[in-house]
Amino acid sequence: MYLIFDDVQDVARYTARQLYRVMARRPRAVLGLATGGTMEPVYAELLALLAQQPLELSGLSTFNLDEYVGLSPCHSQSYAYYMDQHLFRHLPLAAGQARVPNGIAADLAAESSGYSGAIAAAGGLDLQLLGVGSNGHIGFNEPGTPFDAGTHVVELSEQTRHDNARFFDAGEVVPCRAITMGLRDILQARELLFVATGRSKAPIMEAIHGSAPSEQIPATAIKTHARSCIVLDAAAAERL
Ligand code: GLP
Repeated sequence: MYLIFDDVQDVARYTARQLYRVMARRPRAVLGLATGGTMEPVYAELLALLAQQPLELSGLSTFNLDEYVGLSPCHSQSYAYYMDQHLFRHLPLAAGQARVPNGIAADLAAESSGYSGAIAAAGGLDLQLLGVGSNGHIGFNEPGTPFDAGTHVVELSEQTRHDNARFFDAGEVVPCRAITMGLRDILQARELLFVATGRSKAPIMEAIHGSAPSEQIPATAIKTHARSCIVLDAAAAERL
């Protein structure tokens, strides 16, 4: 299902309302969260909603999609830091309620399998929020990733490192590897909410729209899911 809104703010308001709905529906809600520029206005809207109508959050669990390998949670470009800045520090969450893969784990294979296991142990994801990379990656599942992969370590493509370099200071090196929830983890969520905004996402949205599910465009995996919703602004939808 596609939902197309006029602008970014309307997309953010709708998306935040969906997250709030899942959080309000059951005390032990499990959310899969995402990072990137697309999600910044979403989390701002969600915080505004929670300020207006607070929810009891002591049973909430969240799992983020991905993290760079080698960046500690204190590094300003780590996704743990991003989540802390944009959401977690503003909520009354206890340690362990909000998880981001540990990119500096000594044993990344154990961290990966433990992460998929922790999602399952929490009861599975009620809703997974997704952005998209310009090459069609979701999380950091780059083109060619099998749809049945669990959480794993990936080599980032040149395209992805180039796209994400805008967030790093000049002279800082974008990590070559990341740990990401796999497409299997993502597809096991009970609901998927895929969000893309801005003209730069129009070409990949056209490609996703026109393609059958294919490992060459990881985002097409969402077409195999019974409850997925694609939320776009007019700019990202301009080639559909
Ligand atoms: C990164 C993240 C993705 C995200 C993508 C798009 O590569 N790993 O999860 O969807 O960026 O980011 P943006 O919203 O900044 O375009």
